[in-house]
Amino acid sequence: MSILVTGATGKTGRHIVRELLATEKDVRVLTRRPEQVEPRPGLTVIEGDLTSSDSLSAALDGVERAFLFPVLPAIGAFAGAAERAGVRRVVLFTGAWAAGHTERDLGSWVLPRYREAEDALATNGPAEWTVLRPAPFATNALWWASALRDRGVVGLPHPDAVCPVIHEADIAAAVVRTLLDDGHHGARHTLTGPALVTQAEQVAAIGKAVGRPLRVERIPPEQWRADAERFLRPGIAGDLLREWAETEKDPSTALPVLPTVTEITGRPARTFTRWAEDHAADFAGA
Ligand SMILES: NC(=O)c1ccc[n+]([C@@H]2O[C@H](COP(=O)([O-])OP(=O)(O)OC[C@H]3O[C@@H](n4cnc5c(N)ncnc54)[C@H](OP(=O)(O)O)[C@@H]3O)[C@@H](O)[C@H]2O)c1
Repeated sequence: MSILVTGATGKTGRHIVRELLATEKDVRVLTRRPEQVEPRPGLTVIEGDLTSSDSLSAALDGVERAFLFPVLPAIGAFAGAAERAGVRRVVLFTGAWAAGHTERDLGSWVLPRYREAEDALATNGPAEWTVLRPAPFATNALWWASALRDRGVVGLPHPDAVCPVIHEADIAAAVVRTLLDDGHHGARHTLTGPALVTQAEQVAAIGKAVGRPLRVERIPPEQWRADAERFLRPGIAGDLLREWAETEKDPSTALPVLPTVTEITGRPARTFTRWAEDHAADFAGA
């Protein structure tokens, strides 16, 4: 069976490819940067862009199942091209905000954008579609890497904000199971990590993993926003600040821990401590 993976050079996609290759012999990836893909038996690399219809035709030809990375403007066209190419199943991930678990999420900037993408897949794509909605990624802690490496301290506006952050390997494992197993068609599963953790606890776990004390200093939200808007859309920065302020004040307003990773993959979700150990090299510094 031929399976296409988009986003394969990314932090989550790398795990999807590795895990699929362990069970499937025909995995294809679509990337704008083929030089980033390590050649492996069973892996075919197609150079292209998700927003180009020519790339989609080449990538989807002969494919039975596909993982669709959330390049939001490309979802509807990809779904339609997959349906026309005879692809049987497409799995997409968006984000937990799309589930509208809290009043805050319902009013978020990102919710209508994610829902529009999900609905574009459901409407235009093959009958067998599944959406996974991961909680905020543990990999967001990589935003702190250079500060923690260089100075041992990171400035955060809401260090006691809580969230059930998810390890990217668990997102990938859920993608792989929903690609390969039946029973998830038409489902929109929210995925979370195994526990609520504060950002200060995440920094402490990273410190333990690298074997040196790391600190958080509280900074004004506007200082964080000015810095973050160099790499995040203003709407997302606003959603994050609102979530952090509210969950720091009242942890009961956080996205709840859900059992979905275990239910889908058959294994418990990885802890943030495990994530920090897996990524210690990213934070090991001076
Ligand atoms: N951070 C969070 O807390 C969070 C929560 C929920 C959802 N999300 C979603 O998760 C995504 C990030 O996932 P990640 O960290 O695994 O990704 P990542 O490491 O940022 O990698 C991005 C991937 O997207 C591919 N890509 C981007 N634009 C493309 C295009 N036009 N055509 C083909 N490929 C394209 C890149 O491939 P090439 O460059 O090789 O072409 C790369 O593989 C975000 O975009 C967000 O929508 C994030």
